[in-house]
Amino acid sequence: MPRCASRLVTLPEYPLGKFPEKKRLLIARGMDVIDLGAGDADLAPPAVAVERLAEAAKMPSMSRYGFGLGLVEYREAIARFMGKRFGLDFDPLREIVPLIGSKEGIAHVALAYAEDGDVTIIPEPGYLAYVGGTQLAQGEPYRYALRPETDFLVDLDTVPHEILRRTRILYLNYPNNPTAAIAPTEYLESVVRRCRELDILLVYDNAYSEMAFDGYKPPSIFEVDGAREVAIEFHSMSKTYNMTGWRCGWAVGTNELVAPLAKVKLFVDTGAFMAVQAASAAALDDWANFVPGNVAVFTARRDAAVDAFRENGFTCVAPRGTMYLWIPLPEHITSAEFAEFLMEEEGVIVLPGSSFGEGGEGFFRVSFVTSPERLREAAVRAGRVLARLSVGA
Ligand SMILES: Cc1ncc(COP(=O)(O)O)c(C=O)c1O
Repeated sequence: MPRCASRLVTLPEYPLGKFPEKKRLLIARGMDVIDLGAGDADLAPPAVAVERLAEAAKMPSMSRYGFGLGLVEYREAIARFMGKRFGLDFDPLREIVPLIGSKEGIAHVALAYAEDGDVTIIPEPGYLAYVGGTQLAQGEPYRYALRPETDFLVDLDTVPHEILRRTRILYLNYPNNPTAAIAPTEYLESVVRRCRELDILLVYDNAYSEMAFDGYKPPSIFEVDGAREVAIEFHSMSKTYNMTGWRCGWAVGTNELVAPLAKVKLFVDTGAFMAVQAASAAALDDWANFVPGNVAVFTARRDAAVDAFRENGFTCVAPRGTMYLWIPLPEHITSAEFAEFLMEEEGVIVLPGSSFGEGGEGFFRVSFVTSPERLREAAVRAGRVLARLSVGA
């Protein structure tokens, strides 16, 4: 039998991969399943995006290959968004790379910047495309534990010199999945300064830039002086516009830094469906009509989830960004055991912290992606499991 490459053996399990099938089986057993696993809301995308998709799908030109250029209208809408939202100027043709969802670009960027023995610094717990992209590119992941005591930030000065010398990429993501941490401006300034000194590419994953509460406005890394010299920023249509399944995002940075990613993509894909790019352009231009209202819905969900989990025996911080609660567990309960019990006995899907890497042990992640009523019901069930697992501890 043909043998697969050894790099596949070293890839971790992808936790979300198994849930659709698991969920199907639980439902078949007659369970009332509440799925708080993936960051994938049950809400509608903007009406203008749906209308534009329907219209564009009827145009033969949209059904053709987009190649790397894609739809210029989409690039221009991205440039307008970066200008209006962050006050930043980017050339739509040279400094933006349309992506088939931001995950695609985040995973591929390592192929452009890392090779045998090159180190990438990976926050752990963290989004698994960082470690996946690194290992598929034969890079060497250096896992950096994000802990509450250090505000879930990566301090490059605590990384051994021997590692820093070989580091090509630092992945950062704030607002952060899964910890929901946000990064202070001074922190981002110091990271950019260190990346410039060390010649490290800063891959800044800004998938949750528009998913923030209580007046907080997450910055672009390019608001920091000097960031253009070292950073590529990744954005997504998924969370902002409830468009996870549409697969559309972008990378942005100087032409020198994004061109290698665009080159990799020329050999592995031929661009997202152009009708989806047209719809994404319409959604971006509709920001003011759609995003604040959508964030208000998530704010109500966040508040309901925070209150309900607190009332049911958990401690949790109310996040100022993302769609996640990162909830600590008592020391004697492992996150895998808790998540397994909660799913099998109560039909509630959450992610164990350990599925984001060992650094995530001791916590579980709740995505507040469903109604306040269902979130409250999930918290009651989680409280029952906590009580059961605590007996005799
Ligand atoms: C931190 C982070 N980055 C990137 C993504 C990828 O989003 P998409 O590929 O849908 O744009 C996600 C999705 O959950 C995420 O949590």
